[in-house]
Amino acid sequence: MEQQLTQIKEDALTAIKAAGDLNELNEQRVKYLGKKGSLTAILRGMGKVSPEDRPRIGQLVNDVRSELEASLENRQSALKADELSTRLATEKIDVTLPGRRHEIGHLHPLTLTLNKLKGIFRNMGYSIAEGPQIETDYFNFEALNLPKDHPARDMQDSFYITEDILMRTQTSPVQARTMQAHEPNSPIRIIAPGRVFRRDDYDATHSPMFTQVEGLCIDKNISFSDLKGTLTTAMRQLFSDDLDLRFRPSFFPFTEPSAEVDITCVMCHGKGCRVCKGTGWLEILGSGMVHPHVLEMSGYDPHKVSGFAFGLGVERIAMLSYGIEDLRLFFDNDARFLKQF
Ligand code: DAH
Repeated sequence: MEQQLTQIKEDALTAIKAAGDLNELNEQRVKYLGKKGSLTAILRGMGKVSPEDRPRIGQLVNDVRSELEASLENRQSALKADELSTRLATEKIDVTLPGRRHEIGHLHPLTLTLNKLKGIFRNMGYSIAEGPQIETDYFNFEALNLPKDHPARDMQDSFYITEDILMRTQTSPVQARTMQAHEPNSPIRIIAPGRVFRRDDYDATHSPMFTQVEGLCIDKNISFSDLKGTLTTAMRQLFSDDLDLRFRPSFFPFTEPSAEVDITCVMCHGKGCRVCKGTGWLEILGSGMVHPHVLEMSGYDPHKVSGFAFGLGVERIAMLSYGIEDLRLFFDNDARFLKQF
């Protein structure tokens, strides 16, 4: 038994010294000290050793075990150190390589334009209202003074879902929704941004889906001069302090009187250029005093309060702000375009 132990010890120590890497070393650990290892087998056989020899042999086995464990430990440290120095010698890190840039996204130019508009009107005491994109015929048309068969419906040839439900053609229905959600005759100052849908071409200046911002202000004694002052302030903040506004008589079924608003051309400052077709003016929005019948239909009394409303196209404003000539670029989502904002 003692001889056997000495043999195991010699063999094991030689094998441990010869182990060329950590895997090989581990194989040796299993071979001698593992559950089925040869030293373990000896321990199992202790029952057969005579009682008087048992303590001595037991001590011997334990000594061999400790010696092998120490030797494994040593060899392991040596192998690890070797491994590290080979890695240090062979692996080269080029610290002059530029780092990998994290591409951070940013807001879409339409969102940037919308945010700017929202900020301008918030500073004037307006809050943001929203309405559904799928709208009833009643809110989209009837409550805005466009009864069935009204010829002005033709200008907004629409996507109908049923006879009575359609994709909203304008943000104006939010006017009626807001009034009806308020105590009758209570003051309102809201803008309503959102998408609208009309059957239309898809070319450099048209899209069957686009974005509008609606405005509505109702209170006692609101007059056309309030409309002019508010829009002039807003447009000057949006583009530049020196621009002028021009109000041209127009027609919308839900306003009376109605006005189409032009601003000094932001490209040529009024001199006349390709963008303003030589006129020096750019048509920018529709507006007017809320029609008494529209107030009435939503529970407001036109003898007690009055209001103004306006609606503008966000794509057009973004195109003018950034000098973009094709509206479709907003929707193509070409990263080369979007990266520029
Ligand atoms: N809803 C109109 C359109 O889509 C725009 C508009 C014009 C809105 C005049 C208004 C307004 O509130 O007063 O063409």
